[in-house]
Amino acid sequence: MMERLMAIIKKAGGMILAADLEHADVEVKSTRGDLRTNYDTAVEEFLRRELALVLPEAQFIGEESGLQKREADKYCFIVDPIDGTANFTWDYHHSAVSIALAKGERILAGLVYNPYLDELFHARAGEGAYLNGRLIQVSQRSLRDGLICFGTSPYDKTKAAATFSLARLLYEKSLDVRRSGSAALDLCYVACGRCDLFYEMSLYPWDYAAAALIVTEAGGMLATMEGEELRFSDRTTLVAGGPPAFRDFWELYI
Ligand code: IPD
Ligand code: CA
Ligand code: CA
Repeated sequence: MMERLMAIIKKAGGMILAADLEHADVEVKSTRGDLRTNYDTAVEEFLRRELALVLPEAQFIGEESGLQKREADKYCFIVDPIDGTANFTWDYHHSAVSIALAKGERILAGLVYNPYLDELFHARAGEGAYLNGRLIQVSQRSLRDGLICFGTSPYDKTKAAATFSLARLLYEKSLDVRRSGSAALDLCYVACGRCDLFYEMSLYPWDYAAAALIVTEAGGMLATMEGEELRFSDRTTLVAGGPPAFRDFWELYI
């Protein structure tokens, strides 16, 4: 099945690369800055169709069709057609397609594809995490020696004060901070050691479901920022990192 999912996600990435941005329809969703283009919709519809051919009995949850209740004993695809829609709209070349296959609260497979760099991250539960077929591992850097990525929860600006005061603290305690515009890629960058810790105070399952498995399969640690086990049904806070940076984070944050 993984081969088929890889072929599907690469085709979806091709749709992103082929987009005619000058003539894209851009609509505002929940708040200013929360955008949907005709490409978000088209890629999601493509994924819904193709994934139904791979596993007809599976439910489908995608960002553009919204959260639904998952049946505990059923397979479910959790999909973000374009993670990094603002980046996509601005032609920033840092966005990804994300596909997770879940059963209950377990993620069985996760794929995140950045078409601009032709980078495909994937993992199957219990089988390690890979970037373009090469095994990847999280870093073993301490927070002090690390680069920290964070997301700004741009659709919930009530989180701004907490987000940026933590960014300030982590900036002082680490080497530097980054904000990329794609939570799925931030997590995959943690998985392959390009950054050492990531946090964001409001994410939906389609932003992190696939990449969360990629992080754990690469030896990383994840939790909600309340210190609870991550779930895949609703909006959440999230922190992820290589083990040393993750431990250092909790000493600062508690
Ligand atoms: C967003 C991106 C962004 C993160 C937001 C997400 P979208 O996803 O992952 O980096 O900060 O919280 O909603 O809307 O571009 O799919
Ligand atoms: Ca997203
Ligand atoms: Ca999206």
